[in-house]
Amino acid sequence: MIRVAVALPERPYDVVVGTGVIEGAAGLLPAFPSARHAFVVSDRTVSGLFLESLSEALRAGGLTPIPLGVPEGEEAKTLQMAGTLLNQLAMQEAHRDDVVVALGGGSVGDLAGFVAATYMRGVPLVQVPTTLTAQVDASIGGKTAVNLPGGKNLVGAYHQPRIVLADVGALATLPEREFRSGLAEVAKYALTVETGLLATLEGRLPAVLAREPEMMEPLVATCAGAKARVVAVDERDSGARLILNYGHTLGHALERLEAFAGRSHGEAIAVGMVFAARLAEAMGLGPEGLVARHVRLLASLGLDPDGALPDVDAIVAAFRLDKKFHGGVRFVLLEDVGRPTVAESVPEDAIRRILKEMGAEG
Ligand SMILES: NC(=O)c1ccc[n+]([C@@H]2O[C@H](COP(=O)([O-])OP(=O)(O)OC[C@H]3O[C@@H](n4cnc5c(N)ncnc54)[C@H](O)[C@@H]3O)[C@@H](O)[C@H]2O)c1
Ligand SMILES: [Zn+2]
Repeated sequence: MIRVAVALPERPYDVVVGTGVIEGAAGLLPAFPSARHAFVVSDRTVSGLFLESLSEALRAGGLTPIPLGVPEGEEAKTLQMAGTLLNQLAMQEAHRDDVVVALGGGSVGDLAGFVAATYMRGVPLVQVPTTLTAQVDASIGGKTAVNLPGGKNLVGAYHQPRIVLADVGALATLPEREFRSGLAEVAKYALTVETGLLATLEGRLPAVLAREPEMMEPLVATCAGAKARVVAVDERDSGARLILNYGHTLGHALERLEAFAGRSHGEAIAVGMVFAARLAEAMGLGPEGLVARHVRLLASLGLDPDGALPDVDAIVAAFRLDKKFHGGVRFVLLEDVGRPTVAESVPEDAIRRILKEMGAEG
């Protein structure tokens, strides 16, 4: 078991990474002296797998678990669903010391986090991430949100969890595509701020792909540590966190363009990272071979960094809608692996040329 500290001055907490962390939750949870109930938000698949053992652990820890069911995946992240959960909390007479537990992937985490942030202006939150994406990224840092018809994550709040319990044993049942999507985030950390992971991904690939807990525990902990470091210096996402947006500018654009070619988030940011590497090479910022290394790594993780792209004009227009857009397209680019930098003024003709080289029309 590895404990990763998220050293926020006013709200420090731990990310506990290991096997059996769900069953052992009673011994890991911080004290909630005035809490009686733990409201456990999860979808049907996840509750079928883990709710019983988590509930038992919560009882052992002196909390009465009350399950609250939500739809699977992104569909759960609506204002309506948040309203339903808030009403359920009120009906059950949840009080301000009771605990909301998010059991599931990033969607459940974002939704339950938002509900915990807003019920009575904030109640304690525990994150129990069960997808790789949620364990290395979404459960850490306190960003919570739901979607509006007009866009993803448009309504939200910052609300840090009291603890994150990341059980790498839970990854065993994850659908292959979901797992690979998480590996794209792992690759992002490896290429930008945790180059030590490159050796693991390049040298011990079979163990990673087999999701061996002995392999996943340090791997998840390293990524969680990277996220924790960035969050600790930039809780409100005003600068340093931008680095972890590597590959996400194009990735988000592809997702926004109606899930172009049906890519998952991970598949979209894989294309985005290759695009960023191509930009860096073309601008003479990154070394020769940077693109090839990206392609090799991502392909080995089962992520296809090629494939269909939308029209260049549509992509450039989508860049302008990015929340990170501030009067110009900013890209996180690599001077080399492990040396990220924020490029403020990337010439639009270079962007367009590379998109065309990658197969975009226009
Ligand atoms: N708050 C943040 O900082 C942050 C960061 C990254 C992503 N996100 C958000 O996270 C969401 C994506 O999350 P996600 O990729 O974890 O997917 P998800 O939560 O949308 O869906 C996961 C799917 O996998 C299933 N599942 C979860 N755990 C399982 C397990 N152990 N075994 C079998 N099936 C399992 C679920 O039932 C669900 O169908 C997006 O909405 C994104 O915006 C938030
Ligand atoms: Zn991402």
